[in-house]
Amino acid sequence: MADTDESPLPGAGGLSGFFFTFEGCEGSGKTTQVELLKEYLAGRGFEVLVSREPGGTAVGARIREILLEPGHAGMEPLTEALLFAADRAQQVTEVILPAMRRGRVVIGDRFVDSSLAYQGVARGLGLEAVARLNEWAIGGLEPTLTFYLDMPVEEALARKSGEGHDRIEGEPVEFHRAVREAYIMLSKLYAHRVVVIDARESREEIHARVKRELGRFL
Ligand code: TYD
Repeated sequence: MADTDESPLPGAGGLSGFFFTFEGCEGSGKTTQVELLKEYLAGRGFEVLVSREPGGTAVGARIREILLEPGHAGMEPLTEALLFAADRAQQVTEVILPAMRRGRVVIGDRFVDSSLAYQGVARGLGLEAVARLNEWAIGGLEPTLTFYLDMPVEEALARKSGEGHDRIEGEPVEFHRAVREAYIMLSKLYAHRVVVIDARESREEIHARVKRELGRFL
C-alpha cells in the first residue's frame, strides 16, 4: 500500500511491517505452512502475528459461527460475501494494521483472495462485485506476497475426510474445483504478488520455497 496521506484508510499511513498471506483449498496444508513460517521468522527475531479468517477477532468469531454453521444451508451468496467482508474489516482495523504500524510481520491464513475465489467465482457473484465490496472493507491493503498452495481438489479433500464438515467444506466437489480454477486465474491476474506452490510437495520442500521467496523482502 502506498504510504501516503491520501490513503483511503484513516491512519493507514506509516506501515512498516510486511503482510504475507497463504491461500488454497481446504486440505492444502496452509495452516501447517503458516505455523512453520511463524516459527522460522520468530526464530530470526521478527515480531510475528498470525491473522486467521474468518474469526480472528472477538466480533469475527461470532461472524464465523454464522458463516460456517452447517444448518445455515439457505444463506444467500450475497449475505455470505458481506459477512466475510465484515469479518475482514474488523480484522484489518483491529489486528493487521496496528501490527504493521508497529513493524511486525503479519501472516494471513486466508485473506481477500479467498472471497474472490469462493464468493466471486464459485458462488457466482462476480469478481468485480466482490473485489469492490472488499475494497471498501480493507481500503488499499494488499499482501506483500501471497503463497497459493495448489493441488487437485479430490486429493486435498481426501486429506480432510476424517474431519467433520462445516457449511462450505461440505459443498460438492464441483464447487471446490471452481475454487481451484479461480485461484489459478487469480494467480495470473495478480502475478506480481502471488507465488504458486505445488501443495503435493513435502511440507519441508514447501517451507523451503516460501523462505526462498521471502528472501526478497526480509
Ligand atoms: P476454515 O475452517 O478456517 O478453513 P481452512 O482451514 O480451509 O481455512 O474455514 C473457512 C472456510 O471459509 C473455508 O471453507 C473457506 C471459506 N472462506 C470463504 O468462502 N471466503 C472467504 O473470504 C474466507 C476467508 C473463507
